[in-house]
Amino acid sequence: MGKIKEVAKIIQSAHYVVALTGAGISAESGIPTFRGKQGLWQKYDPLEYAHIDAFLKNPAKVWRMLKELENIMYKVKPNPAHFVLAKMEKVGYLHAIITQNVDNLHQIAGSQHVIEFHGNAMRLRCLSCGKVYDKDTISFEEVPYCFCGGLLKPDVVFFGEAIPKEALIKAQMVIDACDVLLVIGTSAEVAPANYLPFEAKNHGAKIIEINIEPTHLTYQITDIFLKGKAGRILQELAIALAL
Ligand code: OAD
Repeated sequence: MGKIKEVAKIIQSAHYVVALTGAGISAESGIPTFRGKQGLWQKYDPLEYAHIDAFLKNPAKVWRMLKELENIMYKVKPNPAHFVLAKMEKVGYLHAIITQNVDNLHQIAGSQHVIEFHGNAMRLRCLSCGKVYDKDTISFEEVPYCFCGGLLKPDVVFFGEAIPKEALIKAQMVIDACDVLLVIGTSAEVAPANYLPFEAKNHGAKIIEINIEPTHLTYQITDIFLKGKAGRILQELAIALAL
């Protein structure tokens, strides 16, 4: 039996399927990943641009990078990988997505149960009063401030910041519940998100990984590795699931 058909069978007989997604699932939408040769962190040192201390010390510098990213982000659309996951949820083959991505593309594709582990770049949050703004209502020309005078920051988790409590609790709940975990397009280099596959594996869940190249998970805990672009693999899976 081909690997895709085998995965389809596993999903069809599972009770609770969860997907953990990373930057690789949005690569085919035109958003650069973080690591690797073309990765964002090659261009921008994360300690200078994505650490909360760096942001507080020099917000204008960090907002310059965010503005550049905004020019890429505003025109991107979900790709077939996002749409297949949304469809799987609709028919009951997928119960939750934990995403490390902040691009909102799962939500735009129609997925309902999305746990935003690293926040969402479509929102800005005031660091003083906590008020949340829709990104599109804010000018990116200068460092944006809240009406209260506080500094606005994208509502995403910077290095040095904790994972939002609600996301952490919800992620823990769905990981505890799952008997299949699809790990899609993540290098699994960043904690604590990269603990989640190990926790799932520890209580007996099957780990199915989709990536263009193996990761450290592949050799340690992955049960079935589907090598290739998320868009193609998930479209093949959709056919095998008769979606
Ligand atoms: P990475 O850039 O670390 O990893 C992207 C993964 O996607 C790699 O394993 C690639 O091989 C894989 N990949 C690339 N293109 C793909 C494709 N078309 N289909 C399938 N896989 C593909 O991104 P993340 O693992 O998401 O955190 O990074 C995790 C966190 O590190 C991010 O959420 C971000 C970053 O620092 C914060 O900003 C807090």
